Amino acid sequence: MESIKNVDVKDKKVIVRVDFNVPIKDGTVVDDTRIVGALKTIKHLVDKKAKVILLSHIGRVESLEDKDKNTLRPVAKHLSTLIDTPIYFVPLTRGMLLEKTIENMNSGEVVIIENTRHEDYPKKLESSCDEALSKYWASLGDIFVLDAFGTAHRCHASTYGISKFLPSYSGFLVDDEVEMLQVAMHKRKTLILGGSKVDDKIGVIDNLVNTSDAVLLGGAMCFTFLKAKGLPIGSSIVSDDKLDYCKDMLETHSDKIHLPVDVVTQNGVKNIEDMEKDDIGYDIGPKTIANYEKIIDKSTFVLWNGPLGKYEDNGYIEGTKKIMEYLSSKKVDTMLAGGDITGAAKSLGLEFKYISTGGGSTLEYLEGKKFRTLDRLNGENK
Ligand code: 3PG
Repeated sequence: MESIKNVDVKDKKVIVRVDFNVPIKDGTVVDDTRIVGALKTIKHLVDKKAKVILLSHIGRVESLEDKDKNTLRPVAKHLSTLIDTPIYFVPLTRGMLLEKTIENMNSGEVVIIENTRHEDYPKKLESSCDEALSKYWASLGDIFVLDAFGTAHRCHASTYGISKFLPSYSGFLVDDEVEMLQVAMHKRKTLILGGSKVDDKIGVIDNLVNTSDAVLLGGAMCFTFLKAKGLPIGSSIVSDDKLDYCKDMLETHSDKIHLPVDVVTQNGVKNIEDMEKDDIGYDIGPKTIANYEKIIDKSTFVLWNGPLGKYEDNGYIEGTKKIMEYLSSKKVDTMLAGGDITGAAKSLGLEFKYISTGGGSTLEYLEGKKFRTLDRLNGENK
């Protein structure tokens, strides 16, 4: 990949696609790992007197309410506390105000544009990599930098789309993460998978299982596997259309895939076979924690994506906390991948050797999937 490191950017309008898809609560950024991760590139460009135009998505936008809810305004405010240069937020994704703001920028200043996925409603223009939108955004700059490793697996107008129309380079965060993942790629691993993006994650297991010695499941996704096994799951979240897939996976890899034997529900801890109709599983239970710790004892490298319980609810942090503390006390080589799990580690005050800002992107990268935008930066797909 050609890095932005050695490119002359002085007085150039540099569009940087970052991944500022960070958790916000009451208008404030709760975890800024991804923002801090992009600072190296932003500061480099500011120091080299470029005009820096930041693009990012936040959340998923399918309605007008989603548009109101998912704004980058709090991110812009937070960014201005981390960097000593003027940051201008444009609350729009296109139009005269945006164009004029960019036209009037001084070198060394930063403009951050509203959530690119506002272009996903009413038509999915950003997520479908709409050609006209890609061209329009590209017309706002001279150079494109991809520094959103967390979004590198998506083919969006603001990623692959722009890279078709401008000289394009990788940013420091992308360079560093790709280098780190090359290391992880060749290690035998224990994979811990949790979190809430059930449908996205179930799909990555069948490739990653081949390079893993064990797969420990928690979070919302384990209930589809438990149901596929014929166990009662009460009213827990389930993806019925993935049941056959999960059944196949369990038959083929019964020795590797491990599931909770007990869970924490709104009615207390329950063994899976005792789950009743209205029970909803929110976290893994103590017996499961003990089982998972035994497997971790035999592991030399752990890759972990997604919290094991409904982490945003403080009551359901115990499974994640116990396993994290165990990994830390045993000094197991661990890579945390994704905003939620790195945020959990931060709030628990625990540090790990490898931190990846990508969740889904890291899993897909390690599966060996091709990323069209990274391929373009490598000179392919031109
Ligand atoms: C992430 O949080 O994994 C990235 O920002 C991508 O978000 P998405 O899954 O909504 O595309």
